[in-house]
Amino acid sequence: MQITYHGHSCVQLSDGRHSLIIDPFLTGNPVAVTRAEDIAVQHVLLTHGHSDHIADAVGIAKRNDAEVIAIFELASYMESQGVKATGMNIGGSVAKEFGRVKMVQAFHSSSVMTDDGRIVYMGMPAGLIIHFAGHTILHCGDTSLFGDMKLIGERHEIDLAFIPIGDLFTMGPDDAALAAQWLKAKFVVPIHYNTFPTIQQDGDQFVRSLEPYGIQGKAMKPGESINFA
Ligand code: NI
Ligand code: MN
Repeated sequence: MQITYHGHSCVQLSDGRHSLIIDPFLTGNPVAVTRAEDIAVQHVLLTHGHSDHIADAVGIAKRNDAEVIAIFELASYMESQGVKATGMNIGGSVAKEFGRVKMVQAFHSSSVMTDDGRIVYMGMPAGLIIHFAGHTILHCGDTSLFGDMKLIGERHEIDLAFIPIGDLFTMGPDDAALAAQWLKAKFVVPIHYNTFPTIQQDGDQFVRSLEPYGIQGKAMKPGESINFA
């Protein structure tokens, strides 16, 4: 499986047959090196409705005739924007051509701002457990540390976890390191940091802080791809 990190919380997973992108935010992302127009995927997965997670969802879905997978309210909103979408909710899972997606908790908020400045509720924020190419991958979305991460780690053998470390809007590095332990993640990639001045963090230092717990990881650069075996 190839993992490509596009910066912020935007991650693309590919196995040569299927490709999916999570939380596409390329347009307007100051650290992104890839253009939304160059993304080729069959599925777009969304953790919540904030613009730094859905900025390119409609564009990428339309250009690729790709299907969006998101919580019910956000999926309905995506449908209203003219794209195919599967709505689901926390605790549920759905099988797709590439594998299975299960929606789990995240502690955050979720909304979109309309052109006339109204804030519209987009359902609960979520984390996504993705069974893909023989791996179990958790994308935490935007979240605080919460105790039921232990339950998620107990119920799922997580090979790879994308965990926010930026602080301010999500966990900072200390809470994220505890999250990695509670999730019993085997390999961790930090996300949601260094995109803006308010969420500057040292990704390499975070990864090193996991070593005493036997957790591997990598602070990926925007645009960087790795093969995950
Ligand atoms: Ni958010
Ligand atoms: Mn965010």
